This record gives sequence, C-alpha cells and structure tokens, in this order.
Amino acid sequence: MADYDYDVLVIGAGPGGYVAAIRAAQLGLKTACAESRETLGGTCLNVGCIPSKALLHASELFQEAAGGALAKLGVKMDNVSLDLDAMHGQRRDAVKQLTGGIEFLFRKNKVEWLKGRAAFTSKDSVKVGDREVRAKNIVIATGSSVTPLPGVTIDQKVVVDSTGALELEKVPEHLVVIGGGVIGLELGSVWRRLGAKVTCVEYLDQILPGFDGEVRKEANKIFKKQGFEFRLSTKVTGVSVDGSKATLTVEPAAGGEAQTIEADAVLVSIGRRPNTDGLNLEAAGLQTNNRGQVEIDHDFRTAVPGIWAIGDVAPGPMLAHKAEDEGIAVAENIAGHTGIVNHDVIPSVVYTFPEIAGVGLTEELAKERGEVKVGKFPMLANSRAKTNHEPDGFVKVVADAKTDRVLGVWIIASVAGTMIAQAAQAMEFGATSEDIAYTCHAHPTHSEALKEAAMAVTGKPIHV
Ligand code: FAD
Ligand code: NAI
Repeated sequence: MADYDYDVLVIGAGPGGYVAAIRAAQLGLKTACAESRETLGGTCLNVGCIPSKALLHASELFQEAAGGALAKLGVKMDNVSLDLDAMHGQRRDAVKQLTGGIEFLFRKNKVEWLKGRAAFTSKDSVKVGDREVRAKNIVIATGSSVTPLPGVTIDQKVVVDSTGALELEKVPEHLVVIGGGVIGLELGSVWRRLGAKVTCVEYLDQILPGFDGEVRKEANKIFKKQGFEFRLSTKVTGVSVDGSKATLTVEPAAGGEAQTIEADAVLVSIGRRPNTDGLNLEAAGLQTNNRGQVEIDHDFRTAVPGIWAIGDVAPGPMLAHKAEDEGIAVAENIAGHTGIVNHDVIPSVVYTFPEIAGVGLTEELAKERGEVKVGKFPMLANSRAKTNHEPDGFVKVVADAKTDRVLGVWIIASVAGTMIAQAAQAMEFGATSEDIAYTCHAHPTHSEALKEAAMAVTGKPIHV
C-alpha cells in the first residue's frame, strides 16, 4: 500500500461510482472518488432520474387538477393555473437535496472527493486537475451522455437534449420529440400535460424498443389516446432553426418523399453513449469496444488487472439501479468478497402515466429459447385500479412451459414501477408462476393483478 495513495479510486460519482466508493469505504478500503461536476450524483441525480421524476410528478398533479380528473372525484378547484417557475423550483430543490445528501454520505464514510476531470497517466495512476494520484484499484464509472444526431445541432434553447428539456422556460406550443424511447416518452409526457402538442418521430415501426411487443403496442395506443402524435418508421434528416422556430425534415425510414414539421421545441432523445473521451484509456492499456463501452468480465474486471468498470460506461442496460448494484458488487470483489449482479433480472420502468415496467425476457425472446406459457390480466378487472379510475394496462407473466419458472413479467399500470419489484424478487428466487399465484396478496391492491396474471398462466384467474 505504501506507494499507493488509495486502495480504491473511483472515476465518476453517479449511482455506479458513488455507491462503489461508499461500499469500498464501508469495507475498510481507503477510497477516493473523482468527479468533475460541481455536485455529486452523476447524470441520475443532477439531470436524469431525479429531476425528470420531479417534473413528471408535478405535471401529473397539474393535469389531474386542470384536466378535470380531480373534479370527477369531487375535488373541485377554480382557476387552476400553472406556475412553471415554482415547478422548476421544486425540481431544483429535489436535486439540491439529493446531491447534497451524497456529499454528506461521502463525509460520513470518509470517501475523499477529488474535484476535477480524471485522466489515466498509467495503469495505476490518474491525474485529476493538477494532482496525480496512484491507486491499487481504479473503477471507471464515467457514465454516458446524449448520442448526437448527425445534422442536428443542440442549442439547448430550441433544439434540446434531455438536460435542456428539463429546463424549458415556457411550455412550447409544439414539441417534436426525436426518438420514441424512454426519455422521449417521459419528457414528452411532462410537456404534453403542461399544454404542449407533442409529436414523436421514431425511426422504428414501434416505440419503446426492448420492451415486450404487446406492451409496446398497447403503450402506443394509450399515448395516442392521451394526445401524443406518432410518426413511426420515420427518420429525421435535418433540423433548421430560425429564431424561436424549428423546421424538421423527415422522410420514411425506408426512404421516400421528404416532408417538413414545424416546432417550437425539438427534443433529441435517440439514446446515450458511454463517456470515455478525455479519460486517456490508452495510457492504462485499455480500449473501448465497437459500441464505445469498456468491456468487463463477470466480476467487472477490465482487461487490465486492477482496473474495473461499472454502470453506463460498461455493457448492459443504462439504468441507475443496474449501476448501483454493480457499484456494490465491484467494491465487494475488490475487497475480496463475492460481488454478484444477476443481469437477467434487472427491472426497467418508464415513469409515464400509466407506468410501464418489465423484468426478464419478453414473450418474443422467451419463445425463441423454448416453449412458454403466458398469463395475462387486464387492469380493468383489478378492483383497486377500477376504483381509482385507472383502467388502462395489463399484467403479463411469461413462464417456461415445462418447469413453470417465471421468465419475464410485463406490466402497464399506474403503479407498475412499484409492482415490478415483486416480480423481480420472485424471479431472483427462481419462482414459478404457481408460487406467485399461491402467494397471498393484500386486497384491494394493484398487485393482485400480478397474482391473477400468474393464475392465468395455468388458465384459472378468478376475476375475468
Ligand atoms: P452517470 O450517472 O452518468 O455518472 C457518471 C459521472 O462521471 C458524471 O457525474 C460525470 O460528470 C463523471 N465523469 C465522467 N467522466 C469523468 C472524468 N473523466 N473525470 C471525472 N468525472 C467524470 N435510470 C433509471 O434507472 N431510472 C430513471 O428514472 C432514469 N431516468 C433518466 C432520465 C434522464 C433524463 C436520463 C438522461 C437518464 C435517466 N436514467 C434513468 C439513466 C441513469 O441516469 C443512468 O443509467 C445512470 O446515471 C448511470 O449511472 P453511472 O454511475 O454509470 O453514470
Ligand atoms: P432509448 O434507447 O430508450 O430510445 C431511443 C429511441 O430513439 C429508440 O426508440 C430508437 O429507435 C430511436 N431512434 C434512434 N435513432 C433515431 C433517429 N435517427 N430518428 C428517430 N428515432 C431514432 O434512448 P433514450 O430515450 O435517449 O434514453 C437513453 C437511456 O437513458 C436509455 O437507455 C434508458 O435506459 C435511460 N433512461 C432510463 C429511464 C428510466 O429508466 N425510466 C428514463 C430515461 C432514460
């Protein structure tokens, strides 16, 4: 240890990096974390999960009040109006509190924050600002940033990425979202609820790639009903800005006649790419794969001994909880324990209304691997959802036809994000659909729909 400054140096303080640093320190390792942002927490806390959910929550309440849904429940309000500054204020406040919380946790656990951009100078040394430090173990947790769209310049005023879309100073009349993935649908929902017309241009023939086919179709229907306009199988070939207006040129994905769409704001949300620019990976003897990711083995080791990688910069879904779990596991592996993440059971949630969630295999993928049984239950038949006037959606359980083991669960429901945790836990424990069906679920809860979908796998739900 003598000539090392740290046992562990983590680069990046997002949910992967800050969790890895805290766990490493908890395990008795001398730990530092390099972060170039002014606040800790990475994309997720500063410009991702947290601020987007703050706006999703507030805009949902606004719509319930302004759109008359509350009045239908007997909650009458006159002259509901939007105070966008206040809405942004509570978003900034949530970010401030949570990023400050990580700073507190660093102090509490004695994790040293090295402020500045880190770049490798060798396989065990890193320069952060003016300081060069040596560490026995280095964890790359540098996260990801927005994938640019060739021919489209993000000015963060008219043409924005997700960070700019969180900060719009007024509600655009017409927002065009490029990319019908998670960000497009979540942030599109925010501005639609606040009064914008929203058009979503998606290159593929359906929104939400990676989700179960039936879920993608049903979600599309629900969003259309809410007022989203979709231009599927369509590509954007250029965006020009004149003052406060944008003109998008689009054409069929397969080629064909070009058309234009006028907009007051354009959100580019076509995916994210790993952050390795400026890291000087070459000095460490590392290179990225053809997707720009740092390759790792099952234990999060890169090709260079002593260097590890986790989170968005490494392969796998770009999700905060995946990064966090990898953060814990990598620290445990560094400390000589056994840190494991089951990458087959990572839930995914879209925080729209209703929420859309899934874990495990889609029905399509499961069928490619073998014979399956599928059980479905509509939220319309769930007493709690019906009582709450939340009829949209369903739960679908995909199970192995021979063993009955649950392979995947897909949910569209107001609280799908909360419901999916049960499915993930069941799958982690190797549950069969019968195990879920015979587990007593409290009544009346949305979760009973999961029990009934599990019962439907063998053809015996009660309430349909
Ligand atoms: P990051 O959070 O990206 O953190 C990496 C950190 O490393 C950054 O702070 C960066 O400044 C720092 N860094 C990079 N290079 C260097 C360097 N050379 N030196 C020093 N520091 C460096 N996921 C969910 O699971 N749920 C959600 O609801 C959700 N919502 C999202 C909403 C939006 C709008 C966006 C954009 C993303 C969302 N995500 C969500 C994805 C989630 O934010 C990421 O998966 C997660 O932040 C990845 O964590 P990470 O630790 O790998 O990287
Ligand atoms: P995404 O990968 O979810 O969706 C991008 C969409 O853009 C895809 O549907 C793709 O087909 C489409 N697309 C790609 N190129 C296009 C083009 N040229 N023209 C039109 N459409 C095009 O990426 P998104 O929404 O940018 O999110 C990035 C990442 O952030 C995701 O991987 C997601 O995991 C994470 N995230 C997670 C959230 C959550 O967990 N709730 C919320 C927000 C982001």
